[in-house]
Amino acid sequence: MKSIIFNNVFFKYSNPQANDSRPFEELVKNYAVKDVSFSVDEGQFVAVIGHNGSGKSTLAKLANGLLIPEKGEVNILGLDTKESKNLYEIRKNVGIVFQNPDNQMIAAIVEDDIAFGPENIGVPSEEISGRVDWALNAVGMQQFRNTSSYRLSGGQKQRIAIAGVLAIKPKILVLDESTAMLDPIGRKEVLNVVKNLNKEFNMTVLLITHYMEEAAFADKIVVLNDGEKVLEGSPAEIFNSYDYLKQIGLSVPFASEVARRLAFSGVDINSGGILATEQLFESISRLLS
Ligand SMILES: Nc1ncnc2c1ncn2[C@@H]1O[C@H](COP(=O)(O)OP(=O)(O)O)[C@@H](O)[C@H]1O
Ligand SMILES: [Mg+2]
Repeated sequence: MKSIIFNNVFFKYSNPQANDSRPFEELVKNYAVKDVSFSVDEGQFVAVIGHNGSGKSTLAKLANGLLIPEKGEVNILGLDTKESKNLYEIRKNVGIVFQNPDNQMIAAIVEDDIAFGPENIGVPSEEISGRVDWALNAVGMQQFRNTSSYRLSGGQKQRIAIAGVLAIKPKILVLDESTAMLDPIGRKEVLNVVKNLNKEFNMTVLLITHYMEEAAFADKIVVLNDGEKVLEGSPAEIFNSYDYLKQIGLSVPFASEVARRLAFSGVDINSGGILATEQLFESISRLLS
């Protein structure tokens, strides 16, 4: 079963001259998303990378029906986002966590913050407390239930933002650079929560990030450049395209970079397969032993 299908999706934000008679090939240059197709299976963890302005946030908003394609289709859990009767179901099932943790806190106390979403969609009040418990557990924040939101670290706030989204019980979790404003510890906390939700609850994850180390954990990576999908493949495949990624303003995980440079100087430690620091350590240790 497919959770997300993008089928030749085109989107632009505005059309200043509706009667612009230039050919479509010319007009399309100003589109934020151009002819993008990809799909995400149920329970799959897909990362989206691309430099600033490449269309990543637009893609996230197309995925929950906040934006509707001008051409092509976005299909979520079998529902076309173009049909307005599907939008409630789609938005309930696609939880998005954004970049700034401070803009996502609604209530002063953690449990009220998490309860806000389910209350808003009319979940019966006797069910809400259980949902708050479940969501707090899923992000490892049970002990903060009665804490003031302002006392939390950035990473903790993002975990609460994720819990708030989980309390609505979405099938798909979209993270739009949700770790960008966090310190390394906060980033790790959030990524671990996301990995766990994916593994333990089979939650479908679309992780938009500019940290290549995070993308390396995905089952699949989609690379955007100027609104177009330019690469799609496993992390190992994507990070093998080192020169091309550099050319479009992206990098590779630090461990891959080290392995690559070692390979250049004649020390071959399976450079194509190395994505994480632990793998790098293991390969070097093996080589030295
Ligand atoms: N609300 C908006 N109105 C007009 N143009 C926008 C708006 N949001 C984004 N854009 C433009 O759409 C393109 C893609 O933006 P975005 O999806 O935010 O990229 P990313 O998230 O990869 O940085 C950029 O050229 C950006 O300037
Ligand atoms: Mg963005």
